Amino acid sequence: MGLPTIPLSHTEIFRQLRAFQIRDTRWSTGQTFGLTFVGDEAERGLVEEAYRLYQWENALDPMLFPSLVQMEKQVIDIALDHLGGGSQSCGSFTSGGTESVMLAVKSARDFARKANPGLEKPQMLVPVTAHPCFHKAAHYLGVESVPIPVDPQTGRAVVEAYRTHITNRTVLLCASAPSFGIGAIDPIAEIGEIALSHNIPFHVDGCIGAFMLPLLRDLGAKIPPFDLSVPGVTSISMDFHKYAMISKGASVVLYNDAELWRNQTFVWSDWNGYALVNPTVQSSRSGGPLAATWAALHYLGAPGYRSLAKDLLSATQHVKERVKNMPYVDVVGDPVVPLVAIRGNERIIFHIADRMKERGWDMHPQFSHGMLPESVHLTITPRNIPQIGQFLDDLAQVSELPDPPLPAALSTLAAMLPYLTEDALTPANVRALMDTAEINVDSPQTKFGHINVLLNQLKPALRDRLFLLFYEQLFAGRT
Ligand SMILES: Cc1ncc(COP(=O)(O)O)c(C=O)c1O
Repeated sequence: MGLPTIPLSHTEIFRQLRAFQIRDTRWSTGQTFGLTFVGDEAERGLVEEAYRLYQWENALDPMLFPSLVQMEKQVIDIALDHLGGGSQSCGSFTSGGTESVMLAVKSARDFARKANPGLEKPQMLVPVTAHPCFHKAAHYLGVESVPIPVDPQTGRAVVEAYRTHITNRTVLLCASAPSFGIGAIDPIAEIGEIALSHNIPFHVDGCIGAFMLPLLRDLGAKIPPFDLSVPGVTSISMDFHKYAMISKGASVVLYNDAELWRNQTFVWSDWNGYALVNPTVQSSRSGGPLAATWAALHYLGAPGYRSLAKDLLSATQHVKERVKNMPYVDVVGDPVVPLVAIRGNERIIFHIADRMKERGWDMHPQFSHGMLPESVHLTITPRNIPQIGQFLDDLAQVSELPDPPLPAALSTLAAMLPYLTEDALTPANVRALMDTAEINVDSPQTKFGHINVLLNQLKPALRDRLFLLFYEQLFAGRT
């Protein structure tokens, strides 16, 4: 496909763009859990308008766009106030949770290197329930992530394990408040004590839920100390593009002082172009997400977000109570935040997810890990709230149905899979496996229940290789 020789009209372009959307998940109906966090129509319109106003501005040069500096400082200040920042606290606006975490890891690594220039193979301690962005950061930045086990009942990191895993190469302790999978809040205060006693930086990943935590606490929910005010916590990340109801590209990473933060910034003037000073991974950066964030924070304000938190808290409690009374499903752990994992009880949850999908519900399958069971994830957002009653009625009905038998084609695959090795998996044989499993990437009707059961039994490394090659199939080939 080359550049179109005949330009399309405005009408035709939007006709085609809307046609592309037909097969996408219908987030606006409230049947999709997670991925999109959209407020009511007025708030959504405001976010879009503010975004558009600043869409073309470029944060690369703050001298030319002082308004972006002004807005970023105000947004960071609001975030610091929300998350226990002190007078010396500071931070940066980033494009998302992954970038925020990545920058916290880079800061800690470079801070440690300054103190110890000979440091080789730096390590960080990461609970097994932490978001994969920590492992991605480790991979990109040449840091080894050392797994910290979690309590199988609560899903919270085991404090003592931090103490026993610290070495003279440990540059960062990490924990989540809350974790994505089952919405558990790690014991931040206790880990903070260890961080302090060993003088090691400690990052709290609050990307998905930290924005909600102070609001939920104000409503009477039991939220343990988790933020920058906790002794030992040196940095925290929080996404606005989740529960602050802002479109994608909006997060912050905050530090309790500038000494760590300074290590985040990359500076280069040793060339024949402009002096490059990048506090974040992105260099050229649209002002759109920042303006959208500034606008939504001021539009909803404390009363708007408090009312949102109240609705989310009662929706979460409603889901937990009803699911606990259903015989064939159960809630994993005991989340206070609107992140609820549902497991099967004498039923395979992945088949329940397929049947819910037939009724229009989109949820994320999650594999088992250690003692934590396989589940489906509900990231409850305001759009879901009016539909929660219907969702629960559907779940009650479909979870009563027996699991479907394994189709013959898949039983051959099931017998084969345990003998596969990562090296033996090639693009061609993954294509063949997909054909056997009748996975048609162009068809939203594909049922993934049996496939997820099989994947759940595989070694993560083999699963990762399968996913890699599957994605290649999705994007490969010219149109
Ligand atoms: C706890 C946690 N940390 C980090 C991230 C990564 O955020 P993003 O997808 O914005 O990069 C997520 C995403 O869901 C998350 O739940």
